[in-house]
Amino acid sequence: MFSYRHAFHAGNHADVLKHMTLLAVLRHMTQKQTALTVFDTHAGAGLYRLDGDYARTSGEAAEGFLRLLAAPPPLRPTKVNQHSAADAATSAPTALLLQDYLELVASFNSKNSQRVYPGSPFIIQRLLRERDRLKLFELHPTDTKTLGANIAQLAAGRQVAVLQEDGFEGLRKFLPPPARRALVLCDPSYEIKSDYARVPAMLADALQRFVTGTYIAWYPLIPRPEAHDVPRKLKTLAVKAQRPWLNASLTVKNSKLTTDAMGEVQRPGLPASGLFIINPPHTLKAALQAALPQLVQQLAQDEHAAWAVESGG
Ligand SMILES: C[S@@+](CC[C@H](N)C(=O)[O-])C[C@H]1O[C@@H](n2cnc3c(N)ncnc32)[C@H](O)[C@@H]1O
Repeated sequence: MFSYRHAFHAGNHADVLKHMTLLAVLRHMTQKQTALTVFDTHAGAGLYRLDGDYARTSGEAAEGFLRLLAAPPPLRPTKVNQHSAADAATSAPTALLLQDYLELVASFNSKNSQRVYPGSPFIIQRLLRERDRLKLFELHPTDTKTLGANIAQLAAGRQVAVLQEDGFEGLRKFLPPPARRALVLCDPSYEIKSDYARVPAMLADALQRFVTGTYIAWYPLIPRPEAHDVPRKLKTLAVKAQRPWLNASLTVKNSKLTTDAMGEVQRPGLPASGLFIINPPHTLKAALQAALPQLVQQLAQDEHAAWAVESGG
């Protein structure tokens, strides 16, 4: 069984990028009347404690979501294609999307404490209408149990289903969805090297079954060729299917390995991550272009911090 537990990583900079983008996509998709089905192929436990042992041991939320809270704006105006942390000007309001994300997370907490961090299942469920459906796949037995217990508290009935299944495989049987509207979030841990190939394989199959669905795939940006292959392969898929796509990334620090005084190689932890979206809402690019420079400013750990948004189709 996997050793990856998302509780160590909840609220880190990758979660901030992913959950903020997920929120933007859902806000747009829930504007249409027709029922929506959302699939979270790698759901995790659903809710996390930022003051619990896992989060405190890793300290990742402190460099992500908690850092956003601790350093509220001075935020700077953002220019399109202005991609580094060093770019700055005078003060400006928080980007709407960033504000929306901060308010959403705050709504899971009481006024003076930010101890709870919602994972993707809870962010999604919060935005659904009664007619919408959510299917959550999670393989880890402990996390499936926790997820099931967390979801049960919502008393959401048939709206939300927790499936202890392989999400890469399980998605197939649901596509196309009855109302022909779906969002798929594919957020593996990449603990197993085959995940790097399974993400594009799953999306290739999904596009064949349901070409108009919206697909969001998260990937780490680390010094491994397979990681860089993920967005490259997804772009090829989108282009071949003649569908619009968007690729966004957030870097918080240098990705180079360093050597400490004892000659030991030090890994930098996760320096950057990206999201590849097929059939993104037309509003997403502008929303990210406004929010990402502000994220870079607040989450930068060194001068390598940067953002990028590329789109096509
Ligand atoms: C990055 S975490 C998910 C975080 C969650 N999407 C969020 O944003 O809150 C990845 C999860 O996928 C689970 N997992 C790993 N391989 C899986 C598979 N093939 N199918 C379903 N779940 C899997 C892991 O146990 C882990 O909980």
